[in-house]
Amino acid sequence: MTSEIATPRSFSASVPLQGRIAIPGDKSISHRALMLSALAVGESRVTGLLEGHDVLATAAAMRAMGASIERRDDGEWRIHGVGVGGLLQPREALDMGNSGTSTRLLMGLVATHPITATFVGDASLSGRPMGRVIDPLSAMGADISASPGGRLPLMVRGLAPAIPFAYRLPVASAQVKSAVLLAGLNTPGITEVIEPVPTRDHSERMLRGFGADLTVETDADGTRHIRVRGEAELKPQTIIVPGDPSSAAFFIVAALLVPGSDVTITNVGLNPTRAGLVDVLKAMGGDIKLIDPREVGGEPVADLRVRHSVLKGIDVDPAVAPSMIDEFPVLFVAAALAQGRTTTTGLDELRVKESDRLAVMMTGLRAIGARVDETDDGLIIDGTGGDPLPGGATIAGHLDHRICMSFAVAGLVSRAPVTIDDIAPVATSFPNFETLLQGLQAGGG
Ligand code: S3P
Repeated sequence: MTSEIATPRSFSASVPLQGRIAIPGDKSISHRALMLSALAVGESRVTGLLEGHDVLATAAAMRAMGASIERRDDGEWRIHGVGVGGLLQPREALDMGNSGTSTRLLMGLVATHPITATFVGDASLSGRPMGRVIDPLSAMGADISASPGGRLPLMVRGLAPAIPFAYRLPVASAQVKSAVLLAGLNTPGITEVIEPVPTRDHSERMLRGFGADLTVETDADGTRHIRVRGEAELKPQTIIVPGDPSSAAFFIVAALLVPGSDVTITNVGLNPTRAGLVDVLKAMGGDIKLIDPREVGGEPVADLRVRHSVLKGIDVDPAVAPSMIDEFPVLFVAAALAQGRTTTTGLDELRVKESDRLAVMMTGLRAIGARVDETDDGLIIDGTGGDPLPGGATIAGHLDHRICMSFAVAGLVSRAPVTIDDIAPVATSFPNFETLLQGLQAGGG
């Protein structure tokens, strides 16, 4: 889905960022809104849907499996679902582009329908491990043949009726949890996911919202048992998608780092399973105020006012990692400008995202003059104390939107421009990133 020709882009030392912006809808929630609407009987309406390439890949796949999905206006979509059990055999391979979430969650849906689907993706996605969903879905009866190493392209032959299953997550992954829960929707009886470390809970919230019989029991040690009753009948919903905290992250860090900045980001989703970055940046001394905390579409939301701050390095508690798993690349940029040392540990999962985010951030930050060391499971960064970075390098983005945007932010606080070799991947999650940035630089937001 990304273009064949690379589009390099340079980012240079910025004037203060000022004004108000609304960031696009949450990517995780947008995927789930389309999938569950496509499985409900009747018409669902979604507003605030993220129209990034990843979510559009989910929309195309659900259409290919029989749902009617229509865009009415910016972020406004209508979906007529086929009912749980009603997915049709897609005629062509499902093109997942760059999207791990689409792939893993849709594999879950296909696994317990009597259909066969082939999943293909771009070079980044084709390098990512799918064994983590292949294992539980195979135990439920799906027949999955993958490329070597459990990778894409792969083919899922679903089994219906499937075999109910209790699965203890071996990695803290909301994608794996959601794949099993979605597979459980069309499975007789109870499907259970045992989650020792909490991960984002959008699937649980939204499944309940659509009327699924889903319960969550928490043990004394915090382990969650999530049980969904299968052969569910989902009722159509009206969903308002809150702004994506993972997209807000780039502007939160940019406003903290660029001297003189004062930015308000409206309608930011602050589900506790996603809000780790705000807490960590506050602990580093970041001036971030939550304005008008409220609930939108069953998710906590607030406006964030962020002002330039001198940050201090900290040891980031690995326990917060799942609640900010996508925000580490931009946190590393914040750390590179902080006073003193920031250490991060427990981040093995970053190695299997759209790129190996530990290695790619280490290499890129060093190239622009930051002091960084890589360990097995984290980075150690000695910050400049607020001085700009030298900059003056071209960064390989490795088809990873969050790497591209993190180095765009780094460019705003570098002496010489930072060039991203190809900016196109940004459109997977944040199509208007550059427009919003230019608005804040013009002082209007
Ligand atoms: C996501 C879960 C996370 C995250 C990804 C979106 C989701 O992946 O990195 O961007 O929507 O469930 P893991 O669950 O594999 O950590």
